[in-house]
Amino acid sequence: MDAGVRITVGIVGASGYTGGELLRLLLGHPQVEVVQATSEHHIGKFVYQVHPHLRGRLINTTLRFIGRDALQTCDVLFLALPHGEAQKNIERYAALAGRIIDLSADFRLRDASAYVTTYGHEHAAPEWLTRFVYGLPELHRDELRSAQYASGVGCNATATTLALWALVRAGLVQDDQPMFVDVKVGSSEAGSTPTESSHHPARSGVVRPFQLTGHRHEAEVRQSLRPCGNFDVRMAVTSVELVRGVSAAIHLSLPTGLAERDFWGAYRSTWGEESFVRIVHEKTGIHRHPEPRLLAGTNYADVGWEYDADTGRTVLLAAIDNLGKGAAGSAVQCMNLMLGFEEISALTFGGVYP
Ligand SMILES: NC(=O)c1ccc[n+]([C@@H]2O[C@H](COP(=O)([O-])OP(=O)(O)OC[C@H]3O[C@@H](n4cnc5c(N)ncnc54)[C@H](OP(=O)(O)O)[C@@H]3O)[C@@H](O)[C@H]2O)c1
Repeated sequence: MDAGVRITVGIVGASGYTGGELLRLLLGHPQVEVVQATSEHHIGKFVYQVHPHLRGRLINTTLRFIGRDALQTCDVLFLALPHGEAQKNIERYAALAGRIIDLSADFRLRDASAYVTTYGHEHAAPEWLTRFVYGLPELHRDELRSAQYASGVGCNATATTLALWALVRAGLVQDDQPMFVDVKVGSSEAGSTPTESSHHPARSGVVRPFQLTGHRHEAEVRQSLRPCGNFDVRMAVTSVELVRGVSAAIHLSLPTGLAERDFWGAYRSTWGEESFVRIVHEKTGIHRHPEPRLLAGTNYADVGWEYDADTGRTVLLAAIDNLGKGAAGSAVQCMNLMLGFEEISALTFGGVYP
């Protein structure tokens, strides 16, 4: 698309955490004008009253929340709603915009029966599932370029899939063993509605295992890896003292006697050309492995590994910001591909340190 073209964008569910992150990214996109942002609880308020870090940002300082019923047509509609909401109203949203990017899990799985086994309900619009492309650009770039509809990604699924993909793709990991994924997550993963478990005295300082079996994102990872085999992925998720961040560690047995160059070869051939996946595998220093704190606010995924050649014991690692690469960042990357914009547009923030 012509670099001078500006498209109109609406965000449904813009008062939440992923909605706020979409606003932050899209307000800095040279080819986007955010023309509408919905919230049922904050109708009439300026968006910066809910997202105070957006005060004074560019021309959209005056943007106010509207209710869903007031939505008008636009070029791209982002849906950032709780699970189940997008599928119930997808016909209405599709009538408003030619392109839709849904950040929920509503259109991530291709098989309608998987919604019964994974989410415990029949899908409300199963005929739409095959119209959506799974929105992980590193795995589905070519399909996204011609897609009208893209799903978002699960944040834990994103970290797990990216941690595994280089070795799975290279055939170094077979599907003959279960893969145990230890996932550590920050508090923003749970969304902006306060709950008993997010109350500060209960949440602060925790290392709290909360879902050790049967995590919903397992289905997404299995689906992503299926071109390479029938992988049995099992996640155990623990809340830790972070606001943003996911750290995934996958524990595997590989053949003994592999060389470092086997790993480097697989990682470089898979990720060497990618703008947002960085290989982190250092021999010295305190930042030898992927670390989510360094990625807050960015669209990067850092991936790495540790391997013991004597025993074959292997740990594959990935870190992301759940609101960035695990949600809004990937969604904006999808939009860039779908609209023919530069893929990295609005996504180049490099993080802060310390
Ligand atoms: N948080 C993450 O790390 C993350 C990562 C990847 C994907 N996701 C997915 O992204 C989606 C949004 O997550 P989030 O963390 O941004 O959630 P959130 O902070 O709870 O925000 C949800 C948004 O939806 C609106 N909303 C709530 N109930 C609604 C309803 N019944 N109908 C219409 N709007 C409603 C809320 O505002 P009003 O109540 O004011 O309308 C709010 O704007 C979820 O499906 C989640 O699974 C989240």
